[in-house]
Amino acid sequence: METELDGSELGTKEYWDSSYTREIGNYKNHGDVGEIWFDEDSQQRVIDWLVKQKIDKQARVLDLGCGNGMFLVGLANEGYEQLTGVDYSANAVELAKNIAQDNQMNITYKVADLTQPQDELGAFDVVHDKGTYDAVSLCPENPKEKRSLYLATVEKLLSSADSLFVITSCNWTEDELVHSFAEKLVKYATIPTPTFKFGGKVGNVVTSVVFKKR
Ligand SMILES: C[S@@+](CC[C@H](N)C(=O)[O-])C[C@H]1O[C@@H](n2cnc3c(N)ncnc32)[C@H](O)[C@@H]1O
Repeated sequence: METELDGSELGTKEYWDSSYTREIGNYKNHGDVGEIWFDEDSQQRVIDWLVKQKIDKQARVLDLGCGNGMFLVGLANEGYEQLTGVDYSANAVELAKNIAQDNQMNITYKVADLTQPQDELGAFDVVHDKGTYDAVSLCPENPKEKRSLYLATVEKLLSSADSLFVITSCNWTEDELVHSFAEKLVKYATIPTPTFKFGGKVGNVVTSVVFKKR
């Protein structure tokens, strides 16, 4: 039996729109790119993993719920060339576009709600999510349905049986993700993340898991 997370403002578009309005101001005034969710280490761990897997520099990479786009900036710095980010907040896309432009990086950004069918986005070799499935799961209304719509979008965006879906979550454990995705996706790898020990039990603060299509 799957339990739903308690709804939160982090699951609403209003929250993200206003938070990126603030971050655009901070970026324009102080050059501060804003929050990198779950810290830079968790972003770098995924980038290092992709590089270590020798994922082709021409691979088509899509970042879901890209926010300020710093994950894609990190990949561009590694030489990846076919980079796309989508977010349902037009303000996030504006911030990400400004940052890419200022760094003279050629990254494509689009506004799209991933809980709606997205037939125009195309197909990708690597689809990445850091904190976006978490945000969708926190939606105060119909979170279960939203998660399932999101997952249907993810499946369609994966171009082939070899395409990878790389997800980093702080709200779901690896077992929970594997269970929730079981109908459409199968676990391919775990990207190790730091563990903590509490009351004799070992846990992870964030989980990074790689899936392929079933
Ligand atoms: C926790 S933030 C993570 C941002 C970025 N991935 C990072 O790691 O820094 C969640 C992001 O998902 C976006 N988001 C939430 N629900 C979405 C949806 N249904 N479609 C597209 N983007 C969504 C939010 O606007 C926000 O940018």
